[in-house]
Amino acid sequence: MQKTVHVPLDTRAYDVVIGPGLVAEAGKHIAPLLRRKRVAVLTDETVAGLHLDRLRAGLAAEGIEMAALALPAGESTKGWAQFSRAVEWLLEQKVERNDVVVAFGGGVIGDLAGFAAAVLRRGVRFVQIPTSLLAQVDSSVGGKTGINAPQGKNLIGAFHQPSLVLADTEILSTLTTRDFLAGYGEVVKYGLLGDASFFDWLEVNAPAMAEGDMALRVEAVARSVQMKADIVVRDETEQGDRALLNLGHTFCHALEAATGYSDRLMHGEGVAIGCALAFELSSRLGLCSQEDPSRVRAHLKAMGMKTDLADIPGDLPSAAELVALMGQDKKVVDGQLRFILARGIGEAFVTADVPAAKVLEVLEEELAHKVG
Ligand code: GLY
Repeated sequence: MQKTVHVPLDTRAYDVVIGPGLVAEAGKHIAPLLRRKRVAVLTDETVAGLHLDRLRAGLAAEGIEMAALALPAGESTKGWAQFSRAVEWLLEQKVERNDVVVAFGGGVIGDLAGFAAAVLRRGVRFVQIPTSLLAQVDSSVGGKTGINAPQGKNLIGAFHQPSLVLADTEILSTLTTRDFLAGYGEVVKYGLLGDASFFDWLEVNAPAMAEGDMALRVEAVARSVQMKADIVVRDETEQGDRALLNLGHTFCHALEAATGYSDRLMHGEGVAIGCALAFELSSRLGLCSQEDPSRVRAHLKAMGMKTDLADIPGDLPSAAELVALMGQDKKVVDGQLRFILARGIGEAFVTADVPAAKVLEVLEEELAHKVG
């Protein structure tokens, strides 16, 4: 049931292996990368409690020793304090230039560990073993690494590609439904941005996949990763096409800021709502049919996901304030907001040519539903 997606980036090429039981087999996959049979693992306390023994056993099966540092779970770990703790720990572990660091966790650990590997001794190799659906389909692939600054999310970082990604689809069974569905927001994004047939497939198969069908999970993760790999290979450092991966993110980042990056809205939930809003906006601009945003919402609702601003608990700022929060997004270029819009399902494109009045109109109507 295993699938492999190759990311062909010349000297930085690597494989993403996807399937159940990969943590237990980690040693077999990692051994060919090692000069000496020793790895340093960065993880978080939750993942360590649930899965670290299995990773240790999987490495030991190939005679690989492991030292591990478990950081606190949660987004607040992704800052300078835990980053310097991690880098100093790696130095204490005497990690050398030819050694391999393992990132074992969700997006926070993957981003932080990848950035630590990028700067340690001017760059050591690292392996991603993503444990959340979001990390498996998005953040572990493509080499974006980094931490948050007080001024904003992901503002400090480096492009540093992993040497291998092991996406164990069995480990996803320990996620809460909310975490799983938040990750699913990124899966559906791939269908919406570039592959209508994948969206058709998800409409039919995603309910059984969320219920735990392993073959469907492997297929969904592999198709998502393949699409991400294709885009990253075209545009590794986001000079153009890679921005398509930000479908739904301009709205999402404003909503995350408006909810204080709190439990009220998880990133993947914001992406799902943001995708619905991006299609609504596209339809209002006459770019796609009116049926498209309805179809996007219907699928998200069928999956039990948040789809509208009304689904976010608590008060939200006004439409104008949300637009102002969008202006602080990283994707602003020369003061121009950039949106990912769509000419239909699977046909997204990047544009800076969006009248602010239309964005306001869409948000005002959404907020009216929330109040009403
Ligand atoms: N998560 C968006 C990207 O990797 O470019």
